[in-house]
Amino acid sequence: MEEIEIKTVLQVYDSFLELPKDVQGLMKQAVFVRDKAYAPYSKFLVGAAILLENGEVVLGNNQENACYPSGLCAERTAVYYAGANFPDVAIVSIVISAKSLQEVLTTPTPPCGSCRQAIAEYESKQNSPITIYFMGEKGKVVKSSSLANLLPFVFDNSYL
Ligand code: THU
Repeated sequence: MEEIEIKTVLQVYDSFLELPKDVQGLMKQAVFVRDKAYAPYSKFLVGAAILLENGEVVLGNNQENACYPSGLCAERTAVYYAGANFPDVAIVSIVISAKSLQEVLTTPTPPCGSCRQAIAEYESKQNSPITIYFMGEKGKVVKSSSLANLLPFVFDNSYL
């Protein structure tokens, strides 16, 4: 028997203001689109701003549905838009902000497992890392310099 140890290293910024200026700009766009999310059921709004290699920025937010499972997270809304409209352009970074209408969210909100799996597909397709930044409404911002840090032991097309 052997053990496999998996180590993940993330960077934590104390606040939005500590981020590099270009990332601040993306976070502002994530916040802008977050506040337009359609989330009448959870009252939990999420926005994602994706920077593409060609400088284009793609925005997405969560879209809920009366049939709850038919809704979609912000990250996948944005990443699938990027995949649909810029299929040959690599994703450089995804910047995420979440806000609850019920409390002030100060905990950085990571992408859910399904979104991690979806983003992993693009990281593997483009063969270069995608940097992820995520925050709540206020407070600390977490940076992961690759999606792989957030989803070790990923199932990808090498298993097919
Ligand atoms: N949500 C996202 O948009 N992204 C995530 O990574 C986590 C959850 C959305 C889905 C749902 O509309 C609401 O947040 C509450 O789960």
